[in-house]
Amino acid sequence: MITVHTVAELREHVANARRSGQRVGFVPTMGNLHAGHISLIDRARSECEFVVASIFVNPLQFNDKSDLQRYPRTLPDDQQKLAQAQCNLLFAPNVEEMYPNGQESQSIVHVPVVSEGLCGGSRPGHFDGVSTVVTKLFNQVLADKAFFGEKDFQQVAVIRKMVNDLCMPIEVVTVPTARAEDGLALSSRNGYLSTEERALATGLYQTLNDVIAALNAGAALNSTLNKAEQDLEKRGFKPDYIEVRRSKDLAPATTGDDEIVVLGAAFLGSARLIDNIAVTLN
Ligand code: PAJ
Repeated sequence: MITVHTVAELREHVANARRSGQRVGFVPTMGNLHAGHISLIDRARSECEFVVASIFVNPLQFNDKSDLQRYPRTLPDDQQKLAQAQCNLLFAPNVEEMYPNGQESQSIVHVPVVSEGLCGGSRPGHFDGVSTVVTKLFNQVLADKAFFGEKDFQQVAVIRKMVNDLCMPIEVVTVPTARAEDGLALSSRNGYLSTEERALATGLYQTLNDVIAALNAGAALNSTLNKAEQDLEKRGFKPDYIEVRRSKDLAPATTGDDEIVVLGAAFLGSARLIDNIAVTLN
């Protein structure tokens, strides 16, 4: 696998692949790769002959600067994992390469409505940072398809709306959440958990499953969500939000909606964990 750090080198390699008739798949990441990221590479490989990954810890999407500072940077390890997964090209730019004119004067892509509430509510500016960097990466890589994890459900909704609204010539593919054996969604942030916290961490996924079971049994939405918040606290979390939305557009779910997604975010110690389950209610 080749690693490049500049847009010019990236463009040259992708143009060569295109000239030889290869379809180009793109997997954007912030690095510290785990099996969830690798499942996106595997999916990309199954649909495209030339697979590009990017690793860039994007300052524009971190509303909390200490969160940005402590975000794990593990490039040599990541390169090994990508090579093993038969990724063809890694684009790993630095901040100057991505924001040559500075972050302050960067043009911003704002995707209204779906970016509001949930993680957008608790992390102001986060999705503007995501949609802006993903637009730049899309224009730099010029891939046929881009692969995103369902784990970040709201992020995929934002990207899909952006691609649709702005007529971006790329297909967005969503990949199911990769989980540990106990159900915990794999995440770079799980590395912040102590051994004791890791043992409790599956409580978020359990709570989301309990919400679905209660709704399927006919329980009312509000009381179910109130109980879920209490359950999260009992399981050692400090809840951020737990909500039920319509899967297709993330609008608040009302009685009678059956294609729904239960989304939750909660702190466990210093780690903020997120998860979601999309289902069709009986
Ligand atoms: P990052 O958190 O590194 O995630 C990169 C991709 O991996 C995202 O599409 C995310 O949804 C996916 N992913 C993470 N954990 C996963 C899991 N357990 N199962 C399946 N997929 C998983 O998301 C970002 O980076 C950034 O916001 C980015 C899109 C790169 C823009 O900076």
